[in-house]
Parts: sequence; C-alpha cells; structure tokens
Amino acid sequence: MNYVRKIREDLYWVGGSDRRLALFENAYPVPNGIAYNSYLLIDEKIVLFDTADRAVSEQYQANVEAVLAGRHLDYLVVHHMEPDHCWAIGEMMRNYPDMKIVCTATAMKMIGQFFDVDNIKERIMVVAEGDTLNTGNHELTFVTAPMVHWPEVMVTYDKSTKTLFSADAFGSFGAINGNLYTDEVNYERDYLDESRRYYSNIVGKYGVQVQALLKKASSLEIEMLCPLHGLIWRENIGWIVDKYLKWSSYTPEEKGVVIAYASIYGNTENAANILAGMLADKGLRNIKMYDVSATHDSYILADAFRYSHLVFASVTYNNGIFTNMENLLHHIAAHNLQNRTVAFIQNGTWAPTSGKLMKDIIEPLKGMSILEQMPTLKSAVKPDQVKELAALADAIVASM
Ligand code: FEO
Repeated sequence: MNYVRKIREDLYWVGGSDRRLALFENAYPVPNGIAYNSYLLIDEKIVLFDTADRAVSEQYQANVEAVLAGRHLDYLVVHHMEPDHCWAIGEMMRNYPDMKIVCTATAMKMIGQFFDVDNIKERIMVVAEGDTLNTGNHELTFVTAPMVHWPEVMVTYDKSTKTLFSADAFGSFGAINGNLYTDEVNYERDYLDESRRYYSNIVGKYGVQVQALLKKASSLEIEMLCPLHGLIWRENIGWIVDKYLKWSSYTPEEKGVVIAYASIYGNTENAANILAGMLADKGLRNIKMYDVSATHDSYILADAFRYSHLVFASVTYNNGIFTNMENLLHHIAAHNLQNRTVAFIQNGTWAPTSGKLMKDIIEPLKGMSILEQMPTLKSAVKPDQVKELAALADAIVASM
C-alpha cells in the first residue's frame, strides 16, 4: 500500500524521497535527503508532470498507478531531461503506449539520446514558447526556460489554478518529511540554507537565464509553485522570488564576512582566527569561518552567495594553492559569483605564492573588489603579521 498526497481535488503529488543518497549528482552531500517531485493532474485528459529518479522509481510508479486507478494516462509533460527527473520515461512509455510526451524540441532529441524509442516522433508532441494544451477544466501554457540549468528546460503555467510547475527552479535539497508545503514548516530556519545551497550549486552559474525566467514569471499571477525538488509554495511566494532575484543577480543577501582557510599545521588557521576576532571586536556580527579541508565546498559556495565579503587564507603547497582551497576557488569561479569584496591571506615558509595565485582565479570575475591588504605569513603569526591582519580588518570594516 502507499499513501498518495492530494494537493487539490484533481492534483496529486506522486514523487518520492531518498534519504540514503550520499551525494546528489555524485557531487553534493545531502544529509537531509532529497525529494524528487512529480505531479499528476486528473482532468478530462490526464496529465503527468515529469517522472522521478531511479532511487524512488518503484514508489513513484506505485503512486501514479494508485491515483490512476486503472485510468488511461494521456500526457507526460517533460520539463527537464536530467536523469533525476527523466529516469522513468522509458518505462512509462512502455507501460502507457498511448501516452503522448509533451516537451521542447531539444528535450525530444535528448529522449532519443537517453532511451531507445521506436517511432519517437509519433509519441512526442513538441511545444514551443506560449503553446497551450487544454485538458478539459485546465489550460496549460508552456514557457521555455533554456539553460535553467539545461537547454531543454520549460515550465508549465496552469491558468485556471494559477499554478506554476517550475522545474528545478524554487527547489531545495532535503527530503519531504510528511509536510508538503513551505507554510507547514519553519522554512527560514530549517530549509532556507539548503534552498540556497541547492540554488547556488546547481543553478548558480546561470543567473542571466534565471533572471529571464523570473521576468516571464512576473507577468503571471502565481498562487502555487510546484518545483521538482523540495516543498510546494502556496504562501509567501514573493519572499522566495526576492531571494531568487538576489541570488540570480549575484547580489549579497546580507553584509557579512566568510573566512575560508586552508591550513596544514594550524598557523594559517590561527591567522584566520585572529582576523575573525578583530572583526568581531570592531562590531561585525555575520562572520562565518570554514576549514576547506573539513567542510564540503558546496556549503562555502552557498555562504559566498549569501554574504558580501570573502576572505581566503591559504598555505602555499607544491608552489601552488593548497588543493582543497584551489578546488573551492575554481568552484566559485565556475559558478560565476560576482559583486563581492574579497581579500587574501597567504602563508609559505620559504616562498609564499598562494595569495597571488588565489587572486588570479577570483579577480577576473565580474564586479569583484579586491582589497589591497594581503597579510603574508612565513610560517607562524608574528607581531608584524598581527599588524597586517589589523590593517585588513580595518579595510574590511571600511568597505562594509
Ligand atoms: Fe533536478 Fe536539473 O535536475
């Protein structure tokens, strides 16, 4: 038996949650699990929105069958072809031979690449920007969202219920633990950090494309957002849209300092601690510190999207940047972070070079303001470096 969640009289959540997965996309830790959402609309024509990941496929198929209760499935709308949502398309096509897939032309190509489908063109209804599908009581409008964060992505607006099926947008890491709606949990306390970490790591690079989607969405009256991951929005939609406007324009949410350090024996860490103490004494309250060897870079990237100031402190290692710090900096650059004030601290017992090398990665990013102070340690912190750290603390406060 399974217990299918009813959203409205004719709309059901038929997804599943995975709490065993170690790394989403084999890259991002998901200690709170991950939900793969799918929605089923029971109208005169029956429409399924997306499939689900292999990990929850059995639950997903059982949910769909339970709601259908022997009825025929008319359409499968495919918003996104990443396998965490498309994995079951092949099986659904076999199980429901009369079902038509509704997707963009780019998605149709991808279906052919992922699955072995005969007569693919007969099974697929290609839609473009603004096309509609009338299902009886509902009129669905398809809105393309290319490169949010794949090229084939589209979202669907149901005019009759003012519902936007938003693909990966407005999603979050974290399983669904009974409560299906953001207004049933303390979202800001318990979910926002994972929502930001999901956005910044999965979609963060594509701010321009997200802004384009937000612009299209701003012309729609939206009362419910149904994303492919995380909880459904039916209240405070303006609040999460405002977060997306900030994240996608690379605007800091808050003034604050993220200090990320790479330290082998603790001397660089000591410099980072001294700087943090000085900043606190100068009245700063939003100070986050991360040892890049202890914290996965997805968490540090998320805070880099949140706060206005970033300090990177690294030892010199093999005449370069300590590996975990180098990975973090490349991760930040690959995600197109912009508009931050940045400082560097370097250490090197005989030839400190990590400061310049770190700067070379971050300085080319758009809108980065690099502070000229670069405290340089040649092993342990000495009185001269305390002065340099004090000067950096002054410069950070002055630039707030
Ligand atoms: Fe959740 Fe881009 O797939």
